[in-house]
Amino acid sequence: MRHSVFAGGKRIRPVLCMEAARAVSTDGELPQGVEELGAALEMLHTYSLVHDDLPALDNDDLRRGKPTCHVVYGEAGAILAGDALQTQAYEVLARLQCPPDARVRIIEEIARGTGTVGGMIGGQVVDLESEKVRPDAKVLEYIHRSKTGALITSSLVSGGLYAQGSSARIESLRTFGRAIGLAFQIVDDILDVTQSSEQLGKTAGKDTASDKATYPSLFGLEESQRKADALIADAHAALASLGARAQTLKALADFLVQRKN
Ligand code: IPE
Ligand code: IPE
Ligand code: MG
Ligand code: MG
Ligand code: MG
Repeated sequence: MRHSVFAGGKRIRPVLCMEAARAVSTDGELPQGVEELGAALEMLHTYSLVHDDLPALDNDDLRRGKPTCHVVYGEAGAILAGDALQTQAYEVLARLQCPPDARVRIIEEIARGTGTVGGMIGGQVVDLESEKVRPDAKVLEYIHRSKTGALITSSLVSGGLYAQGSSARIESLRTFGRAIGLAFQIVDDILDVTQSSEQLGKTAGKDTASDKATYPSLFGLEESQRKADALIADAHAALASLGARAQTLKALADFLVQRKN
């Protein structure tokens, strides 16, 4: 668990969660204890990476610049480390320092975002089923929105719920999350083609080697980049009603398409 969580990583989901909380809170400050919610999100994300890298899924041996969990601790160790990161996340969520009704809504939101239909696991299932077949644009969008976009969206929405933002503001965060979540995975596909393993900290060129369903394989690199840029413009527009409060979230959205790993 420690090997994979503390290997590094951009910590995008906790940062989005905390900034969402700050953007909708009454005083514009970070609510007390919100970093615990961020930590739970990062544990869930890391569990998804540990399992994604297993031989039965993507079979990768490099992650966050280090040998993957199963390379170091064996397959059984990696399966159990992923399971335990998931249960530990819910233990932390159950103890969040926000009112109980917000806590329950957060737990539901995150369970759904990491869950089956439309959630992270559901997306991973269709991702694996789509290897070596050429999926249409609709299925590809479903995979990306689900396997990656859903947890990114839940990170923002749960931050908003923690800060007890109004339902209108939380819906703005959801719309923003749906746009940047899809853009994030399109960029992940692009970087797999354009960057080195050293730069990425994970094996480059892996999607082509595994015949994965990706945006570059369906639309080409330039059109994929255009789609990501258009989604970021939509994301900015979704936060218009938050005014200056949304500046950091907008800058994070820009970072997601400009990143090089
Ligand atoms: C990688 O996520 C897996 C995807 C969902 C694309 P990140 O690019 O956020 O990975 P880390 O956390 O920085 O290692
Ligand atoms: C993984 O997508 C999404 C997860 C839920 C982990 P990828 O398989 O493209 O992620 P990387 O490229 O291995 O990080
Ligand atoms: Mg995968
Ligand atoms: Mg993978
Ligand atoms: Mg990838």
